[in-house]
Amino acid sequence: MIVKIYTKDLKPGMHIANPGLSGENNPHIFLAETDITSESQIIALHQKNYVEVFVDTEKGEYFQENRQEKLRLETPFTVVSTDNPYEVNTRSNFDDIGNIINEADQYYGELLEYVRTFTQRLFETRNINLEDSQEFTRSIISHAGSLGSALVFLSKLQKYDEYSYTHNLNVAMFSILFGQCIGLGQDNLMVLGLSGLFHDIGKILIPERILKKPHKLSAAEYAEVKRHPIHSRDILLKQKNIPQDVIRAVHEHHEHFAGGGYPQGLQYDQISRASSLISIVDTFDALTTDRCYSKAMHAHKALSIIFNLRASSFSPALVDRFVKFIGVYPVGSIVVLNNGKRAVVIEQNPDNLLLPKVRVVLDKNNRYCKPKDIDLMTAGTGSLPLSIVGCMSYQECRINIAEFVPQLKSPRQQAVNA
Ligand SMILES: [Fe+2]
Ligand SMILES: [Fe+2]
Repeated sequence: MIVKIYTKDLKPGMHIANPGLSGENNPHIFLAETDITSESQIIALHQKNYVEVFVDTEKGEYFQENRQEKLRLETPFTVVSTDNPYEVNTRSNFDDIGNIINEADQYYGELLEYVRTFTQRLFETRNINLEDSQEFTRSIISHAGSLGSALVFLSKLQKYDEYSYTHNLNVAMFSILFGQCIGLGQDNLMVLGLSGLFHDIGKILIPERILKKPHKLSAAEYAEVKRHPIHSRDILLKQKNIPQDVIRAVHEHHEHFAGGGYPQGLQYDQISRASSLISIVDTFDALTTDRCYSKAMHAHKALSIIFNLRASSFSPALVDRFVKFIGVYPVGSIVVLNNGKRAVVIEQNPDNLLLPKVRVVLDKNNRYCKPKDIDLMTAGTGSLPLSIVGCMSYQECRINIAEFVPQLKSPRQQAVNA
């Protein structure tokens, strides 16, 4: 398994792998494949300002010696104490999805307005109205069942160019939806929602010129950014009645499962379960959103990065569940089929997340065609089974939401409406 670690956590006996990333886009990652045989090699990488490396846990003496101990520590890590089954993110009645998306779109706008007001008030007064934040969280919990999938889909449309607001909203929302998916109850969902909303509030104390810098941060600037979980905790400690579980989750949301995170360098079950969950959601949202220094990734690419960081940065048990929650190709993704046509994912197949149900909406030249629903699990059983060969963004397909939503209605419904 290839895992990313900080250069400072390298040990002699580890093998540095090259995962095929571009050095130009990742100047802080050392990407040349090599064995680490001495401390002096590690010091040399530090001196050249490399912050991270990818190591191959299947190679090198270090992981051979530590594998048994690592597995022993991973095995008892569970997230939920209940036996409630969790559901893959599906929707059974797609005839209504156009209406559901319109409803969810309006609701997402209302939630975003709340986060804007919350953040501006916090910036001006340093105060948090806990009751309002609890009401915000309760509202998402109550809408999760009816609008959950549509909210996940809409949150990735990049309609709003306000990363700090949409990020805090998405982390709160995804944490609640994911928590509900794995069977957590109301009290846990409240902790997750509040922690998601508050997790980055400490960034209001970090200068914008650092947060929005489009280039590599200096060591001093990076150290400043890494203080934001401490700032977040300190702001919360000055408020009345913020639950301890929330303060802890916020403080620990950049800790890594196997150690090497910040600010405390905790590991395994020293890290609260809420922060283990939020750290996955936080990374997924950051990777799949346009930021000043990087373009948004497709969800399936972000999931593969998170999957590769399981057992190093993230709890493996939770990552497995997160992949099932999002689906490899989330509902609403535009996928390219091996016959060249473009289709929208409309439903997951729980038995094979690589072969969802799709609605073909564009031909290979990006022209709208008559919508056709296909279950990739059963389609094309002849010489050329249909499969997904890539993903496209809405921008690449030149689809906007106003054109796109009607296309999600079923052919039967369109015929009825015609
Ligand atoms: Fe953060
Ligand atoms: Fe964050």
